[in-house]
Amino acid sequence: MLYSEKVMDHFTNPRNVGEIEDANGVGEVGNAKCGDIMKMYLKIENGVIEDVKFKTFGCGAAIATSSMATEMIKGKTVDEALKLTNSAVVEALEGLPPVKIHCSVLAEQAIKTALADYYTRQGIDPTPFVGELKDPDEEHLACEM
Ligand code: FES
Repeated sequence: MLYSEKVMDHFTNPRNVGEIEDANGVGEVGNAKCGDIMKMYLKIENGVIEDVKFKTFGCGAAIATSSMATEMIKGKTVDEALKLTNSAVVEALEGLPPVKIHCSVLAEQAIKTALADYYTRQGIDPTPFVGELKDPDEEHLACEM
C-alpha cells in the first residue's frame, strides 16, 4: 500500500492530538467493521473554532485524516467547518488508497458529531445545520489495519 508523503507526515507527526477539558463540542464516532474509534473536541467561541483536539484508536489513515481535518478547521467558523468533506481532507493529503477512504469518513463524521453536540448544548436542534451523518461503512471496502 502506497501512502503519500503528506499522509506519512501526518501519521508520524499528528497535529492536535489530545483532549480539551473545557470543550463545548465533543463527538465520538466509531466504525463498526474495523472497530476504530475517533473522538473530537472543539472549543468554539463566537462561532469560531478556537481550538480542536482529537484522539483516535485507529489505523494510520484514520490518524492522518483526523490530523489534517483538525488543521483544516482550526480558526474557521462553524459554518466553514460544517462544509468540510472527507474528499477535501483526502485531497489535502494528496490521496489515500481506495481501501482507506472510509477512514477519512470517520474524520468528517467526528467533526460533524462534535458540531452537533455544540448546537445541542445550546438548546438548538443540530439537524438543519449538520444534516444526516454519512455511514463510514458505506465506503468501507476492506479493513487492513
Ligand atoms: Fe478502519 Fe482505518 S478507520 S481501517
